[in-house]
Amino acid sequence: MKLKLAILGSGSGSNMQSIVDAIEAHTLDAEIVCVLTDVPDAKILERAARHHLPGRYVSCAPFRTKLDGAAQEETIRLMREAGADTVVLAGFMRIVKPALLAAFPNRVLNIHPALLPAFPGLCSWKQALDYGCRVAGCTVHFVDAGTDSGPIIVQKAVPIEPNDTPETLHARIQVQEHIAYPEALRLLSEGRLHIQGRRVIIR
Ligand code: GRF
Repeated sequence: MKLKLAILGSGSGSNMQSIVDAIEAHTLDAEIVCVLTDVPDAKILERAARHHLPGRYVSCAPFRTKLDGAAQEETIRLMREAGADTVVLAGFMRIVKPALLAAFPNRVLNIHPALLPAFPGLCSWKQALDYGCRVAGCTVHFVDAGTDSGPIIVQKAVPIEPNDTPETLHARIQVQEHIAYPEALRLLSEGRLHIQGRRVIIR
């Protein structure tokens, strides 16, 4: 089934770009129906414009770290109006609240730059490096009411090299993110993801 994606991002939008590229290469049956950001000058809006995708800034004031209240209602309204059936959090630096999850049940996905459940929260690649891990990675998961806690769809591991800095490690993780997100969305579009409790069964 062709997915109708709403993308929510706060930053550069490189994950959105990987999804755009997969759609344009016909390896992902999807359409991006809207791109929303909480940062007025986010680069993700430039990327959206370059691909003629409808992009828009939504002010999330007065909240700093969550999407709540009127801003969340407006976001839901815009996504519905655009005909979205799936919400893709792609570097969206806010916690979404239950109203959005209820509006798109089992249809909100996120990418996190760590092998969850290790290192939820911010700058996870740095957390992994500081901890002395030998392996880092990324996770695409369904979003639930917790933080980086929903059922896991795809994970990619990335070795940590002796000379890694937070920047080199994050860059290497992002290469895998750009493979993982289109892969997870492809599985969703093919109707192959089945949530059973905490687990996602791929058939
Ligand atoms: C990625 O590292 C993602 O895992 C994290 O935020 C970053 C977004 O990067 N959630 P981009 O905006 O997609 O380039």
